[in-house]
Amino acid sequence: MSVLKEPILKLSQSARMKNFVTHNKIGRRAARRFVAGETLPDAIIATRELNKQNIRVSLDHLGENVYSEAEANHTTEHYLELLDLIASEKVDANVSVKLTAMGLDVDRRLSLDNISRVLERGQDKGNIFVRLDMEGTAYTQRTIDIFRELWDKGFRNVGTVLQSYLYRTADDVQLMLELGARVRLCKGAYFEPPDVAFSDKADTDRNYIKCMEMLLDKGNYPGLATHDEKIIQHALEYVKTNKIGPERFEFQMLYGVRRDLQRKLVNEGYNVRAYVPYGSEWYPYLMRRMAERPANLLFMVSNYWKG
Ligand code: FDA
Repeated sequence: MSVLKEPILKLSQSARMKNFVTHNKIGRRAARRFVAGETLPDAIIATRELNKQNIRVSLDHLGENVYSEAEANHTTEHYLELLDLIASEKVDANVSVKLTAMGLDVDRRLSLDNISRVLERGQDKGNIFVRLDMEGTAYTQRTIDIFRELWDKGFRNVGTVLQSYLYRTADDVQLMLELGARVRLCKGAYFEPPDVAFSDKADTDRNYIKCMEMLLDKGNYPGLATHDEKIIQHALEYVKTNKIGPERFEFQMLYGVRRDLQRKLVNEGYNVRAYVPYGSEWYPYLMRRMAERPANLLFMVSNYWKG
């Protein structure tokens, strides 16, 4: 792990730093690289641009850890409007949702009711898929339990995310394979202690490959979310050797990251989906992107001096 990763991730939770970065020209400029804009129309414009390049989209209305019922309901209403717009504008997009934005920290029942409303609206609007993003380990089991409850109620337009930095993940992949549920596999973006997560990046990468192969063999349209060229190359060789067609999985990458690689994979005939965040609550998202690649911080500062 880069020595800067942990302090940057800790700063992602600092209200003081948030206030500084979000009211500051450098911070706002850096956010523009990773965030599609602040409003719903911005999100739709970015989606259309990507769709024109044959890149599918997952739209994320930024926001997490809300602490009041009113805020959670407000977020839910926003997602309902977003689903309406995806359908009426006929863009190729699904949505990504954080359960803490739907009220998980306020009351489990509230978040379950809210996410159920989102899933129902998704069904009504042509079975639009809803991905439950995975947050820090304080939420892993609760997210999987809520996912399971939704699945047992019969929702099939829902999927979840598993993070290869966690020791538990191969078991969770196995559970999702047994259910036939859709999984997005990523490495994991939060700061986690060594009793639950690999601290060595090489172990996280090895576990990613192990889980990825399990999902490619038997998974329901897995989303391979990574920009790691070595892992992507491994996936390409694995599907070739095992005669797994490109229609059986997709690559997923973040908006503004490795656009060249996204286009290259599309040109080679693979499905690619970009994760497109938008909204005004971009601070923790931006800090996680900085932590993944501290060189982004330098980029941000040097751009500032360029004016
Ligand atoms: P790694 O960090 O090893 O990076 C590989 C290479 O990719 C780097 O050398 C660099 O070239 C490039 N790169 C990676 N991140 C970059 C950045 N921010 N800026 C510029 N270049 C960068 N996490 C989570 O905990 N829960 C979730 O729900 C999700 N959801 C999610 C969706 C999608 C579509 C993606 C792509 C990622 C997530 N993540 C996530 C984030 C994920 O866990 C991880 O933190 C990042 O993807 C970075 O890991 P990589 O797999 O890219 O590898």
